[in-house]
Amino acid sequence: MKIALIGYGAMGRLVGSVAIERGHEIAVVVDDADSALSSAELALKLKGANAAIDFTIASAVRRNVEACVMAGVPLVEGTTGWNDHRSEIENVVSSGNGGFVFGANFSIGVNLFYKVAEYAAEIFAKFPEYDAFVEEQHHSRKKDAPSGTALKLKNVISKHVEVGDISATRAGNIPGTHRVGFDGPADQILLEHTARSRDGFALGAILAAEWIEGRKGFHEFTDVIGEIVGV
Ligand SMILES: NC(=O)c1ccc[n+]([C@@H]2O[C@H](COP(=O)([O-])OP(=O)(O)OC[C@H]3O[C@@H](n4cnc5c(N)ncnc54)[C@H](OP(=O)(O)O)[C@@H]3O)[C@@H](O)[C@H]2O)c1
Repeated sequence: MKIALIGYGAMGRLVGSVAIERGHEIAVVVDDADSALSSAELALKLKGANAAIDFTIASAVRRNVEACVMAGVPLVEGTTGWNDHRSEIENVVSSGNGGFVFGANFSIGVNLFYKVAEYAAEIFAKFPEYDAFVEEQHHSRKKDAPSGTALKLKNVISKHVEVGDISATRAGNIPGTHRVGFDGPADQILLEHTARSRDGFALGAILAAEWIEGRKGFHEFTDVIGEIVGV
């Protein structure tokens, strides 16, 4: 596949090397020097790629999505922090007949963790003496807080139990830690996912790009992971 990389920071660089290891070609790299390009100008750069992968910043997401839709290039959206604009972005994709798959976290383990957390919440819903909580920790350079992954965890467990504010810590070099807990009068149950590196995010983003090639529609990675890795 010919892959366009939008954003060439920590994730963009890693995705580029994993893509090459898996036999793909990097057709174009869009970096901060291109941040003033309009959607139409960016679309011209992207044309000819089989998929684009975006790891930039929330404020650039709308332009990047519009450009991919104009260029007819399906997009893997890895950037977080744009949850509040979700319906607007969905509208850009569907009205332009684009292909789009997004994930606050492309690691396979986290996507399995969502399922474990939801199942746990379903059980604890029968025991109102337990309070559910979500916590996360990331490196000090991460711009959005709470993380998109923590918001997704809150979203899945909120189908069954009430959850208060998410506690977010920014310090040092933590690649990402997420906890879901249930605290009762006599004990506490703690479920934790700890990322050891960013490699899992990069591989998941490439798997998503291989999946979205030639597809249309607005998809969330966690909903299609069964098709991608067979769970
Ligand atoms: N979904 C997942 O699995 C996952 C995993 C890890 C991270 N993320 C998310 O991915 C995003 C990027 O993370 P990161 O750690 O790679 O951050 P990063 O190292 O800061 O990289 C972002 C890059 O995008 C560049 N950029 C900013 N605005 C741009 C624009 N308009 N056009 C093109 N490039 C632009 C930045 O340039 P400057 O530095 O010059 O501004 C930087 O090089 C964040 O939202 C993060 O939360 C998602």
